[in-house]
Amino acid sequence: MLNVAIIGTGNISRMHLDAYVTFPERCVITHLVDIYPEKAEQKKKDYKLPNAKVFASHKEILNDPSIDLVSICTPPYVHAEIAIDFLKAGKNVIVEKPMAASLEECDAMIKAAKESGKIFSPIAQNRFRDPIANLKTVLDSGKIGKVVHAQIDSHWWRGHCYYDLWWRGTWEKEGGGCTLNHAVHHIDMLGWMLGRPSKVSAMISNAAHDNAEVEDISVAVMQYGGGACAKGALVQVTSSVIHHGEEQQVIFQGEKARISAPWKVYASTPKDNGFPIENTDLEKELTAYYESLPHLTHIAHTGQIDNVMKAIETGGDFLIKGEDGRLTIELITAIFKAGSEGKTIDLPIQKDDPFYTVKGIMANVPHFYQKTGSVQDFAGNITVGSEYKK
Ligand SMILES: NC(=O)c1ccc[n+]([C@@H]2O[C@H](COP(=O)([O-])OP(=O)(O)OC[C@H]3O[C@@H](n4cnc5c(N)ncnc54)[C@H](O)[C@@H]3O)[C@@H](O)[C@H]2O)c1
Repeated sequence: MLNVAIIGTGNISRMHLDAYVTFPERCVITHLVDIYPEKAEQKKKDYKLPNAKVFASHKEILNDPSIDLVSICTPPYVHAEIAIDFLKAGKNVIVEKPMAASLEECDAMIKAAKESGKIFSPIAQNRFRDPIANLKTVLDSGKIGKVVHAQIDSHWWRGHCYYDLWWRGTWEKEGGGCTLNHAVHHIDMLGWMLGRPSKVSAMISNAAHDNAEVEDISVAVMQYGGGACAKGALVQVTSSVIHHGEEQQVIFQGEKARISAPWKVYASTPKDNGFPIENTDLEKELTAYYESLPHLTHIAHTGQIDNVMKAIETGGDFLIKGEDGRLTIELITAIFKAGSEGKTIDLPIQKDDPFYTVKGIMANVPHFYQKTGSVQDFAGNITVGSEYKK
């Protein structure tokens, strides 16, 4: 039986609580921590956890030997500090996205995880969704040929007041805008499926939130070549919180066919003059393969938390590691750097690059507008994006 501590008991903590209470025979929530302890008390009540203890600082429970696993659900600017403290104290750690606010922080977290020998897993819950997991399997099969183009539409919509929450809308506390905090999901998918590009160019902007320092839209172009990609392949990534309807999709154009999440397939072969004829045989083959793939037993946060707990229970492997979170942060950092400097960036980003640190990022990115509001908490539920079913 694993004893679990939740640090930060705001909106996203519900997904973690829902996941843990799915497995009452495997784990129990024993500690709830929030700098506003009344929020932790409320979760204790909502989830009927009479034996859970409430604390106002994670430091108070670092040395409690009973804790096996910690879920960090705080704002991004404290992810690294809290994760490193718990890893050094010998606990297994799950940290919400984005893993951290800089590559320097990612490297310190990965180092702490290695030295502790404990599990460290940054959240990328969409890998535990059938349309995403099975899209990757089809891509990996090579049946569409080399990838020549991908379109990553991380389209979200958030109203003006969204950035009035106390920690959102500043480079210091949120660490960035929609590229870091929303597109992190889709950029994780891109890194998982295609790996690291060689070059990134981008524009970052703020078109509709004049109460936030950070960007609410960025458009990036990344150059790939090698691995799953053809030489010269390009990937477009749109990160946005100004898109009505939030039509989120990832589309891969291969040499032989296009596939996507939500699932859609189209395959072309050339006529003698080079114009396209639909290749329905390949389309049927791809769809049959996609439909034959297994379904996940547990999805999203529950899937990832089950995956991590299994690794603790059995000593086996787990899917999402610190290095995965770091690659996502590297691609996001490259978008910030390219967009701030107006240049095409070569990857990997080096340790002496100003964008390697939070301080360097803050000194070099545009601060679009001054943050105005500072609301302690919003009532109402949140949504966490598409299920990629349609
Ligand atoms: N995976 C997803 O789909 C998803 C969706 C939304 C948010 N998130 C991420 O979850 C994190 C939290 O977002 P949220 O929407 O739940 O915010 P929130 O403001 O609702 O909750 C954060 C909680 O952390 C507490 N907190 C702040 N600093 C703390 C500290 N040092 N120690 C303990 N508690 C502290 C706050 O008081 C608050 O209750 C962010 O990193 C966000 O990007 C992930």
